[in-house]
Amino acid sequence: MTSPEGFSIRRTRKEDYEGVLSTLKSLTTVGTISRSHFESIVSYWDSIRLLNARKQEGGELGYKYNNFVIVDDHNGQVAATGNIIIEQKLIHECGLVGHIEDISVSEKYQGKKLGKFLIDKLTSVGFANGCYKIILDCDRKNVKFYEKCGYEEAGVEMRIRS
Ligand code: ACO
Repeated sequence: MTSPEGFSIRRTRKEDYEGVLSTLKSLTTVGTISRSHFESIVSYWDSIRLLNARKQEGGELGYKYNNFVIVDDHNGQVAATGNIIIEQKLIHECGLVGHIEDISVSEKYQGKKLGKFLIDKLTSVGFANGCYKIILDCDRKNVKFYEKCGYEEAGVEMRIRS
């Protein structure tokens, strides 16, 4: 998979603090998160490995948390961010399910195919790790976008809030 020209994609790092938080504002309220809290969460994401993790050159495989950023190579800005969390199940012969979460493209970078590229990347990370399916919840207004990324409607989302 090649990146759109002028952009690169990689796992989120501690130095992405400002870029990730500001990009997530396109998605929802972020709240106040200190740099040290952000850094400890990135360390946590990097520390949780899958059982029987597959190995790959470049080291992107084998993580439960796969938060990625797309970076604008011209100015180093984070243009998009998103996560695929890989759940270890008992059913389906101890199968793995990927959950795509917190997809956000910065407003100024929307409409440049970065969202689709991010979803394609997270989907390929999920399947390369052995997921038998990948699921996500979204607003009705984003259904067409996810269909363009190869996803189809299935089931109904239920919710309870504290
Ligand atoms: N409705 C219909 N089509 C859409 C939409 C939409 N809301 N958004 C994108 N598309 C289409 C584009 O027109 C394009 O179609 P084409 O290939 O035929 O030209 C295709 O989908 C790919 O679009 P991208 O340019 O990759 O979309 P973008 O980079 O703008 O990312 C996204 C889309 C992620 C929805 C972005 O607009 C965004 O961050 N929005 C705010 C936050 C948000 O809603 N995030 C998703 C939350 S759901 C979750 O996290 C699981």
